[in-house]
Amino acid sequence: MIAPSLLAADFARLAAAADAVAGADWLHVDVMDGHFVPNLTIGLPVVQSLRKATDLPLDCHLMIEDPDRWATGYAEAGAHNVTVHVEAAADPAKLARDLRAAGALAGLSVKPKTPIEPCLELLRNYDTLLVMSVEPGFGGQEFIPEVLDKVRIARRHVDSGHLRLLVEIDGGITEDNIEAAAEAGVDCFVAGSAVYGADDPARAVAALRERAARAAARPAG
Ligand code: DX5
Ligand code: ZN
Repeated sequence: MIAPSLLAADFARLAAAADAVAGADWLHVDVMDGHFVPNLTIGLPVVQSLRKATDLPLDCHLMIEDPDRWATGYAEAGAHNVTVHVEAAADPAKLARDLRAAGALAGLSVKPKTPIEPCLELLRNYDTLLVMSVEPGFGGQEFIPEVLDKVRIARRHVDSGHLRLLVEIDGGITEDNIEAAAEAGVDCFVAGSAVYGADDPARAVAALRERAARAAARPAG
């Protein structure tokens, strides 16, 4: 699955940016509050408007403090998947239940330096895991390959039946590294600059998808 990130799009033309990637699977929406991360982007009113402007499932990535208070509003606004940061949530197990009760998938994200082992039991409450492959806050950063170890751990727990999760990766994904991420076991690839920085965003989505599919089809080892 490919999830273009609107962070790299023209914020004055978000509906057109969604239309430009109509062949994608999810549309990734980066919500930043200027506290959990130093950057400030968009919030609930924009997500409510986006919901009416596109048929693409919205993948809301909340890089905010106090997600326990704010996250369910995004589920109620019609987001398909709402991801919160484990570093920010006070009661992430309850939050997952709240998100599901409000009709969304529940997603948990880990920053590049956050280990995954302490999260494994907690992840039984979640539908998606978002492994950050850059420090959250800004688009256009360089991919950190070491985070693929966390993808491999999550993949093993999914394949063994211990967890039922869709594994996402977010940050610095390009045509050059998407195959390595796919081989490590990623299901859903977020890409901002690689899609909206391209002359033809729809073609960029197709090219990323083709490379990821090719890598996933290769025999392991
Ligand atoms: C970073 C955001 C990412 C970002 C990815 O904090 O969470 O979703 O938009 O952008 P690229 O693909 O340019 O790294
Ligand atoms: Zn994101």
